[in-house]
Amino acid sequence: MPEASDVQRGLEDVVALESRICFIDGRQGRLIYQGYDIRDLAARSTFEEVAYLLWYGRLPSAQQLADLKSRLSELRALPDPLARQIDALPADATPMDILRTAVSALALLEPEETKPGASSIGGAQRLTAVLPTILGHFHRRRAGKPALRPRPELSAAAYLVYALLDREPTELEAKVVDVCLILHADHELNASTFAARVTASTLSDLYSAVTSAIGTLKGPLHGGANERVMELLAEIQSVDRVEEVVKGKLARHERIMGFGHRVYKVEDPRATILREWSRRMGEEEGNLHYYELLRKVEEVVHREKGLYPNVDLYSGSVYSLLGIPPDLFTPIFAASRVAGWTAHVLEEYQDLRLIRPTAKYVGAIDLTYVPVGQRS
Ligand code: SDX
Repeated sequence: MPEASDVQRGLEDVVALESRICFIDGRQGRLIYQGYDIRDLAARSTFEEVAYLLWYGRLPSAQQLADLKSRLSELRALPDPLARQIDALPADATPMDILRTAVSALALLEPEETKPGASSIGGAQRLTAVLPTILGHFHRRRAGKPALRPRPELSAAAYLVYALLDREPTELEAKVVDVCLILHADHELNASTFAARVTASTLSDLYSAVTSAIGTLKGPLHGGANERVMELLAEIQSVDRVEEVVKGKLARHERIMGFGHRVYKVEDPRATILREWSRRMGEEEGNLHYYELLRKVEEVVHREKGLYPNVDLYSGSVYSLLGIPPDLFTPIFAASRVAGWTAHVLEEYQDLRLIRPTAKYVGAIDLTYVPVGQRS
Protein backbone atom coordinates (compact mmCIF):
# COMPACT_ATOMS: atom_id res chain seq x y z
CA MET A 1 0.00 0.00 0.00
CA PRO A 2 1.58 3.36 -0.99
CA GLU A 3 2.46 5.72 1.87
CA ALA A 4 1.40 9.42 1.93
CA SER A 5 5.07 10.29 1.51
CA ASP A 6 5.07 8.31 -1.76
CA VAL A 7 2.66 10.77 -3.37
CA GLN A 8 4.37 13.22 -5.78
CA ARG A 9 1.56 15.73 -6.44
CA GLY A 10 1.63 16.89 -10.03
CA LEU A 11 4.20 14.12 -10.62
CA GLU A 12 6.78 16.75 -9.62
CA ASP A 13 10.33 15.45 -10.18
CA VAL A 14 8.98 12.04 -11.21
CA VAL A 15 11.13 10.60 -14.03
CA ALA A 16 8.46 8.88 -16.14
CA LEU A 17 10.47 7.70 -19.16
CA GLU A 18 13.68 7.99 -21.19
CA SER A 19 13.73 10.30 -24.20
CA ARG A 20 16.24 11.60 -26.74
CA ILE A 21 14.14 14.54 -27.91
CA CYS A 22 14.62 17.32 -25.36
CA PHE A 23 16.82 18.03 -22.36
CA ILE A 24 16.12 20.79 -19.84
CA ASP A 25 18.74 21.71 -17.26
CA GLY A 26 16.54 23.59 -14.79
CA ARG A 27 19.42 24.67 -12.56
CA GLN A 28 21.62 25.99 -15.37
CA GLY A 29 18.73 27.28 -17.45
CA ARG A 30 19.62 25.26 -20.52
CA LEU A 31 17.31 23.85 -23.20
CA ILE A 32 18.56 21.27 -25.73
CA TYR A 33 16.68 19.75 -28.71
CA GLN A 34 18.24 16.44 -29.84
CA GLY A 35 21.66 17.66 -28.63
CA TYR A 36 21.52 21.22 -29.98
CA ASP A 37 21.35 24.27 -27.67
CA ILE A 38 18.21 26.37 -28.13
CA ARG A 39 20.35 29.50 -28.35
CA ASP A 40 22.11 28.18 -31.45
CA LEU A 41 18.86 27.00 -33.00
CA ALA A 42 17.06 30.29 -32.31
CA ALA A 43 19.93 32.31 -33.75
CA ARG A 44 20.79 30.17 -36.77
CA SER A 45 18.04 27.68 -37.62
CA THR A 46 14.46 27.75 -38.94
CA PHE A 47 11.27 26.14 -37.67
CA GLU A 48 11.25 23.67 -40.58
CA GLU A 49 14.81 22.61 -39.77
CA VAL A 50 13.94 22.21 -36.07
CA ALA A 51 10.84 20.17 -36.88
CA TYR A 52 13.03 17.85 -38.98
CA LEU A 53 15.51 17.63 -36.09
CA LEU A 54 12.76 16.72 -33.59
CA TRP A 55 11.26 14.07 -35.87
CA TYR A 56 14.42 12.46 -37.28
CA GLY A 57 16.95 13.13 -34.49
CA ARG A 58 19.42 14.91 -36.79
CA LEU A 59 19.67 18.17 -38.74
CA PRO A 60 18.63 17.82 -42.41
CA SER A 61 20.89 18.19 -45.43
CA ALA A 62 20.05 21.06 -47.78
CA GLN A 63 18.10 18.65 -50.03
CA GLN A 64 16.25 17.04 -47.10
CA LEU A 65 15.28 20.50 -45.83
CA ALA A 66 14.10 21.59 -49.28
CA ASP A 67 12.03 18.40 -49.59
CA LEU A 68 10.47 18.97 -46.16
CA LYS A 69 9.58 22.59 -46.94
CA SER A 70 7.97 21.52 -50.19
CA ARG A 71 6.05 18.70 -48.46
CA LEU A 72 4.80 20.99 -45.68
CA SER A 73 3.57 23.52 -48.27
CA GLU A 74 1.62 20.77 -50.04
CA LEU A 75 0.07 19.62 -46.75
CA ARG A 76 -1.30 23.05 -45.72
CA ALA A 77 -4.62 22.65 -47.56
CA LEU A 78 -7.88 22.34 -45.62
CA PRO A 79 -10.36 19.70 -46.92
CA ASP A 80 -13.62 21.39 -48.00
CA PRO A 81 -15.78 19.38 -45.56
CA LEU A 82 -13.60 20.61 -42.69
CA ALA A 83 -13.71 24.22 -43.92
CA ARG A 84 -17.50 23.98 -44.02
CA GLN A 85 -17.59 22.42 -40.54
CA ILE A 86 -15.41 25.21 -39.10
CA ASP A 87 -17.71 27.77 -40.75
CA ALA A 88 -20.69 26.15 -39.04
CA LEU A 89 -19.11 26.62 -35.60
CA PRO A 90 -19.80 29.79 -33.54
CA ALA A 91 -17.74 32.75 -34.81
CA ASP A 92 -17.15 33.75 -31.16
CA ALA A 93 -15.72 30.36 -30.23
CA THR A 94 -12.31 30.27 -28.53
CA PRO A 95 -9.64 29.62 -31.19
CA MET A 96 -8.10 26.86 -29.02
CA ASP A 97 -11.49 25.11 -29.01
CA ILE A 98 -11.68 25.51 -32.79
CA LEU A 99 -8.21 24.00 -33.11
CA ARG A 100 -9.06 21.05 -30.86
CA THR A 101 -12.33 20.41 -32.69
CA ALA A 102 -10.80 20.77 -36.15
CA VAL A 103 -7.98 18.29 -35.47
CA SER A 104 -10.48 15.82 -34.10
CA ALA A 105 -12.73 16.30 -37.16
CA LEU A 106 -9.76 16.07 -39.54
CA ALA A 107 -9.08 12.60 -38.16
CA LEU A 108 -12.47 11.49 -39.53
CA LEU A 109 -11.49 12.74 -42.97
CA GLU A 110 -8.03 11.12 -42.93
CA PRO A 111 -8.71 7.65 -41.51
CA GLU A 112 -5.38 6.20 -42.69
CA GLU A 113 -3.68 8.15 -39.91
CA THR A 114 -6.15 7.19 -37.22
CA LYS A 115 -6.02 3.41 -37.06
CA PRO A 116 -5.02 2.18 -33.56
CA GLY A 117 -1.29 2.72 -33.24
CA ALA A 118 -1.24 4.64 -36.51
CA SER A 119 1.47 7.21 -36.38
CA SER A 120 3.87 8.33 -39.02
CA ILE A 121 6.10 11.27 -39.79
CA GLY A 122 3.63 11.88 -42.62
CA GLY A 123 0.89 12.46 -40.05
CA ALA A 124 3.25 14.66 -38.03
CA GLN A 125 4.00 16.73 -41.12
CA ARG A 126 0.30 16.96 -42.00
CA LEU A 127 -0.69 18.29 -38.59
CA THR A 128 2.28 20.66 -38.43
CA ALA A 129 1.41 22.03 -41.86
CA VAL A 130 -2.36 22.34 -41.45
CA LEU A 131 -2.73 23.95 -38.01
CA PRO A 132 -1.91 27.48 -39.30
CA THR A 133 -4.47 26.99 -42.09
CA ILE A 134 -7.16 25.98 -39.57
CA LEU A 135 -6.36 29.09 -37.50
CA GLY A 136 -6.22 31.38 -40.52
CA HIS A 137 -9.46 30.02 -41.99
CA PHE A 138 -11.34 30.55 -38.72
CA HIS A 139 -9.81 33.95 -37.91
CA ARG A 140 -10.32 35.40 -41.38
CA ARG A 141 -14.02 34.47 -41.30
CA ARG A 142 -14.62 36.07 -37.87
CA ALA A 143 -12.53 39.13 -38.87
CA GLY A 144 -14.21 39.51 -42.27
CA LYS A 145 -10.90 39.10 -44.08
CA PRO A 146 -10.60 37.50 -47.56
CA ALA A 147 -10.26 33.71 -47.77
CA LEU A 148 -6.82 32.14 -47.46
CA ARG A 149 -4.99 31.42 -50.72
CA PRO A 150 -2.33 28.70 -51.08
CA ARG A 151 1.06 30.40 -50.72
CA PRO A 152 3.50 27.50 -51.17
CA GLU A 153 6.41 29.91 -51.61
CA LEU A 154 6.07 31.19 -48.03
CA SER A 155 8.08 29.70 -45.15
CA ALA A 156 6.16 28.29 -42.18
CA ALA A 157 6.67 31.53 -40.22
CA ALA A 158 5.72 33.81 -43.11
CA TYR A 159 2.70 31.64 -43.93
CA LEU A 160 1.50 31.85 -40.32
CA VAL A 161 1.64 35.67 -40.45
CA TYR A 162 -0.07 35.70 -43.87
CA ALA A 163 -2.74 33.22 -42.67
CA LEU A 164 -3.59 35.33 -39.63
CA LEU A 165 -3.00 38.90 -40.83
CA ASP A 166 -3.54 38.68 -44.61
CA ARG A 167 -0.22 40.34 -45.25
CA GLU A 168 3.36 39.18 -45.68
CA PRO A 169 5.72 39.86 -42.78
CA THR A 170 8.69 42.17 -43.00
CA GLU A 171 12.07 40.43 -42.85
CA LEU A 172 12.35 41.22 -39.14
CA GLU A 173 8.80 40.01 -38.44
CA ALA A 174 9.41 36.75 -40.33
CA LYS A 175 12.59 36.17 -38.33
CA VAL A 176 10.99 36.87 -34.94
CA VAL A 177 8.01 34.61 -35.70
CA ASP A 178 10.41 31.89 -36.83
CA VAL A 179 12.30 32.29 -33.55
CA CYS A 180 9.01 32.04 -31.60
CA LEU A 181 8.12 28.84 -33.47
CA ILE A 182 11.57 27.39 -32.71
CA LEU A 183 11.41 28.33 -29.03
CA HIS A 184 7.96 26.78 -28.52
CA ALA A 185 8.56 23.61 -30.56
CA ASP A 186 9.32 21.26 -27.69
CA HIS A 187 9.88 21.20 -23.94
CA GLU A 188 10.31 17.63 -22.70
CA LEU A 189 7.41 16.26 -20.63
CA ASN A 190 5.39 19.46 -20.19
CA ALA A 191 1.71 18.82 -19.43
CA SER A 192 0.46 18.84 -23.04
CA THR A 193 3.28 16.64 -24.32
CA PHE A 194 2.72 14.24 -21.44
CA ALA A 195 -0.99 14.16 -22.37
CA ALA A 196 -0.02 13.27 -25.93
CA ARG A 197 2.28 10.48 -24.72
CA VAL A 198 -0.34 9.07 -22.35
CA THR A 199 -2.79 8.94 -25.26
CA ALA A 200 -0.22 7.30 -27.57
CA SER A 201 0.81 4.82 -24.88
CA THR A 202 -2.61 3.15 -25.16
CA LEU A 203 -1.92 2.63 -28.91
CA SER A 204 -4.43 5.34 -29.71
CA ASP A 205 -3.63 7.34 -32.84
CA LEU A 206 -1.60 10.46 -33.58
CA TYR A 207 -4.60 12.73 -34.22
CA SER A 208 -6.20 11.70 -30.91
CA ALA A 209 -2.91 12.34 -29.11
CA VAL A 210 -2.67 15.85 -30.59
CA THR A 211 -6.32 16.50 -29.72
CA SER A 212 -5.49 15.57 -26.09
CA ALA A 213 -2.48 17.88 -26.19
CA ILE A 214 -4.41 20.88 -27.52
CA GLY A 215 -7.02 20.51 -24.79
CA THR A 216 -4.21 20.43 -22.22
CA LEU A 217 -2.25 23.37 -23.62
CA LYS A 218 -5.36 25.58 -23.41
CA GLY A 219 -5.05 25.83 -19.61
CA PRO A 220 -3.78 29.20 -18.26
CA LEU A 221 -1.20 27.46 -16.07
CA HIS A 222 0.35 26.06 -19.25
CA GLY A 223 -0.16 27.53 -22.70
CA GLY A 224 -2.71 30.22 -21.88
CA ALA A 225 -0.37 32.33 -19.73
CA ASN A 226 0.92 34.64 -22.49
CA GLU A 227 -2.60 35.92 -23.18
CA ARG A 228 -3.05 36.72 -19.51
CA VAL A 229 0.27 38.54 -19.36
CA MET A 230 -1.15 41.06 -21.85
CA GLU A 231 -4.30 41.38 -19.72
CA LEU A 232 -2.02 42.19 -16.77
CA LEU A 233 -0.23 44.89 -18.79
CA ALA A 234 -3.60 46.37 -19.81
CA GLU A 235 -4.56 46.50 -16.12
CA ILE A 236 -1.24 48.08 -15.08
CA GLN A 237 -1.23 50.65 -17.95
CA SER A 238 1.86 52.60 -16.84
CA VAL A 239 5.28 51.86 -15.34
CA ASP A 240 4.53 53.89 -12.21
CA ARG A 241 1.58 51.54 -11.41
CA VAL A 242 3.56 48.29 -11.67
CA GLU A 243 4.63 48.21 -8.03
CA GLU A 244 1.10 48.78 -6.70
CA VAL A 245 -0.68 46.33 -9.02
CA VAL A 246 1.86 43.50 -8.79
CA LYS A 247 2.33 43.73 -5.03
CA GLY A 248 -1.44 43.83 -4.61
CA LYS A 249 -1.82 40.60 -6.57
CA LEU A 250 0.98 38.89 -4.66
CA ALA A 251 -0.56 40.01 -1.37
CA ARG A 252 -3.77 38.28 -2.49
CA HIS A 253 -1.75 35.16 -3.36
CA GLU A 254 -2.61 35.60 -7.06
CA ARG A 255 -0.27 34.17 -9.69
CA ILE A 256 1.61 36.59 -11.91
CA MET A 257 1.40 35.01 -15.34
CA GLY A 258 4.68 34.53 -17.18
CA PHE A 259 6.64 33.78 -14.02
CA GLY A 260 7.75 30.62 -12.33
CA HIS A 261 8.28 27.17 -13.78
CA ARG A 262 8.11 23.60 -12.58
CA VAL A 263 11.58 22.80 -13.91
CA TYR A 264 13.56 26.04 -14.31
CA LYS A 265 14.96 27.33 -11.02
CA VAL A 266 16.64 30.19 -12.88
CA GLU A 267 15.57 32.22 -15.90
CA ASP A 268 13.94 30.24 -18.71
CA PRO A 269 16.44 30.59 -21.60
CA ARG A 270 13.53 31.20 -23.95
CA ALA A 271 12.54 34.25 -21.90
CA THR A 272 16.07 35.59 -22.29
CA ILE A 273 15.81 35.31 -26.08
CA LEU A 274 12.25 36.67 -26.27
CA ARG A 275 13.08 39.65 -24.03
CA GLU A 276 15.66 40.79 -26.59
CA TRP A 277 13.26 40.27 -29.50
CA SER A 278 10.53 42.16 -27.65
CA ARG A 279 12.94 45.07 -27.30
CA ARG A 280 14.02 44.90 -30.97
CA MET A 281 10.42 44.69 -32.18
CA GLY A 282 9.46 47.58 -29.91
CA GLU A 283 12.28 49.73 -31.24
CA GLU A 284 11.36 48.80 -34.83
CA GLU A 285 7.73 49.75 -34.21
CA GLY A 286 8.64 52.80 -32.10
CA ASN A 287 6.64 51.33 -29.22
CA LEU A 288 8.57 50.16 -26.17
CA HIS A 289 5.51 50.41 -23.91
CA TYR A 290 5.11 46.64 -23.38
CA TYR A 291 8.85 46.06 -23.06
CA GLU A 292 9.29 48.78 -20.41
CA LEU A 293 6.28 47.54 -18.42
CA LEU A 294 7.55 43.96 -18.52
CA ARG A 295 11.03 44.94 -17.39
CA LYS A 296 9.51 46.69 -14.36
CA VAL A 297 7.19 43.73 -13.64
CA GLU A 298 10.23 41.45 -13.72
CA GLU A 299 12.05 43.64 -11.22
CA VAL A 300 9.13 43.68 -8.75
CA VAL A 301 8.25 39.96 -9.04
CA HIS A 302 11.86 38.91 -8.59
CA ARG A 303 12.38 41.23 -5.61
CA GLU A 304 9.09 40.25 -3.92
CA LYS A 305 8.86 36.56 -4.79
CA GLY A 306 12.25 35.49 -6.14
CA LEU A 307 10.60 34.23 -9.32
CA TYR A 308 12.05 34.27 -12.82
CA PRO A 309 10.27 34.86 -16.14
CA ASN A 310 9.25 31.92 -18.29
CA VAL A 311 8.63 31.64 -22.03
CA ASP A 312 5.20 33.27 -21.70
CA LEU A 313 6.29 36.61 -20.31
CA TYR A 314 7.51 38.27 -23.51
CA SER A 315 5.89 36.24 -26.29
CA GLY A 316 2.61 38.14 -26.04
CA SER A 317 4.34 41.51 -26.45
CA VAL A 318 5.96 40.28 -29.69
CA TYR A 319 2.64 39.00 -31.06
CA SER A 320 0.83 42.19 -30.02
CA LEU A 321 3.40 44.33 -31.84
CA LEU A 322 2.73 42.17 -34.92
CA GLY A 323 -0.98 43.00 -34.62
CA ILE A 324 -2.03 39.46 -33.65
CA PRO A 325 -5.07 39.36 -31.32
CA PRO A 326 -4.43 37.84 -27.83
CA ASP A 327 -6.77 34.87 -28.25
CA LEU A 328 -4.49 33.63 -31.05
CA PHE A 329 -1.34 33.60 -28.86
CA THR A 330 -1.88 30.12 -27.42
CA PRO A 331 -2.98 28.72 -30.79
CA ILE A 332 0.37 29.94 -32.17
CA PHE A 333 2.04 28.08 -29.29
CA ALA A 334 0.10 24.96 -30.43
CA ALA A 335 1.07 25.51 -34.09
CA SER A 336 4.69 25.23 -32.97
CA ARG A 337 4.43 22.62 -30.22
CA VAL A 338 2.65 20.20 -32.56
CA ALA A 339 6.13 19.40 -33.92
CA GLY A 340 7.24 18.35 -30.44
CA TRP A 341 3.98 16.59 -29.57
CA THR A 342 4.20 14.46 -32.71
CA ALA A 343 7.91 13.73 -32.17
CA HIS A 344 7.10 12.43 -28.68
CA VAL A 345 4.22 10.30 -29.99
CA LEU A 346 6.57 8.75 -32.57
CA GLU A 347 9.11 8.07 -29.82
CA GLU A 348 6.43 6.55 -27.58
CA TYR A 349 5.45 4.13 -30.32
CA GLN A 350 9.08 3.09 -30.78
CA ASP A 351 9.34 1.97 -27.15
CA LEU A 352 5.74 1.60 -26.09
CA ARG A 353 4.76 1.18 -22.44
CA LEU A 354 1.23 1.91 -21.22
CA ILE A 355 1.49 5.00 -18.98
CA ARG A 356 -0.50 4.24 -15.87
CA PRO A 357 0.65 5.61 -12.48
CA THR A 358 -1.15 4.71 -9.29
CA ALA A 359 -2.90 6.73 -6.56
CA LYS A 360 -2.77 6.52 -2.78
CA TYR A 361 -6.35 5.67 -1.82
CA VAL A 362 -7.53 7.83 1.10
CA GLY A 363 -11.26 7.08 0.91
CA ALA A 364 -13.44 4.76 3.00
CA ILE A 365 -13.10 0.94 2.75
CA ASP A 366 -15.25 -2.22 3.43
CA LEU A 367 -18.53 -0.29 3.84
CA THR A 368 -21.71 -2.44 4.11
CA TYR A 369 -24.08 -2.13 1.14
CA VAL A 370 -27.58 -0.98 2.23
CA PRO A 371 -30.41 -1.50 -0.29
CA VAL A 372 -31.86 1.79 -1.53
CA GLY A 373 -35.24 1.14 0.12
CA GLN A 374 -33.55 1.07 3.53
CA ARG A 375 -31.49 4.25 3.07
CA SER A 376 -32.65 7.54 4.63
C1 SDX B 1 4.56 26.88 -19.65
O1 SDX B 1 6.17 22.55 -18.08
C2 SDX B 1 6.59 23.24 -19.09
O2 SDX B 1 7.64 23.00 -19.63
C3 SDX B 1 5.63 24.29 -19.57
C4 SDX B 1 6.18 25.24 -20.62
C5 SDX B 1 6.37 24.57 -21.95
O3 SDX B 1 7.17 25.06 -22.77
O4 SDX B 1 5.62 23.61 -22.24
O5 SDX B 1 7.41 25.78 -20.19
C6 SDX B 1 5.19 26.38 -20.89
O6 SDX B 1 3.55 26.36 -19.27
C7 SDX B 1 5.23 27.96 -18.87
C8 SDX B 1 4.45 28.32 -17.59
C9 SDX B 1 3.31 29.26 -17.98
N1 SDX B 1 2.43 29.46 -16.81
C10 SDX B 1 2.46 30.58 -16.09
O7 SDX B 1 3.23 31.52 -16.29
C11 SDX B 1 1.42 30.60 -14.99
C12 SDX B 1 2.05 31.17 -13.71
N2 SDX B 1 3.03 30.22 -13.23
C13 SDX B 1 2.64 29.37 -12.14
O8 SDX B 1 1.30 29.01 -12.07
C14 SDX B 1 3.65 28.29 -11.80
O9 SDX B 1 4.88 28.87 -11.74
C15 SDX B 1 3.72 27.05 -12.68
C16 SDX B 1 2.40 26.43 -12.85
C17 SDX B 1 4.31 27.39 -13.99
C18 SDX B 1 4.64 26.08 -11.96
O10 SDX B 1 4.08 25.84 -10.74
P1 SDX B 1 4.61 24.76 -9.71
O11 SDX B 1 5.91 24.18 -10.13
O12 SDX B 1 3.49 23.81 -9.43
O13 SDX B 1 4.95 25.65 -8.47
P2 SDX B 1 3.95 25.92 -7.29
O14 SDX B 1 2.57 26.22 -7.83
O15 SDX B 1 4.09 24.80 -6.32
O16 SDX B 1 4.51 27.28 -6.66
C19 SDX B 1 5.63 27.26 -5.76
C20 SDX B 1 5.59 28.58 -5.02
C21 SDX B 1 4.21 28.88 -4.43
O17 SDX B 1 4.44 29.73 -3.34
P3 SDX B 1 3.92 29.27 -1.87
O18 SDX B 1 2.42 29.01 -2.05
O19 SDX B 1 4.68 27.96 -1.60
O20 SDX B 1 4.26 30.41 -1.00
O21 SDX B 1 5.84 29.66 -5.93
C22 SDX B 1 4.67 30.47 -6.00
C23 SDX B 1 3.50 29.65 -5.47
O22 SDX B 1 2.52 30.50 -4.94
N3 SDX B 1 4.48 30.79 -7.42
C24 SDX B 1 3.98 31.93 -7.87
C25 SDX B 1 4.02 31.83 -9.26
N4 SDX B 1 4.52 30.64 -9.61
C26 SDX B 1 4.80 29.99 -8.45
N5 SDX B 1 3.53 33.04 -7.21
C27 SDX B 1 3.09 34.04 -8.00
N6 SDX B 1 3.11 34.02 -9.36
C28 SDX B 1 3.55 32.94 -10.00
N7 SDX B 1 3.57 32.93 -11.34
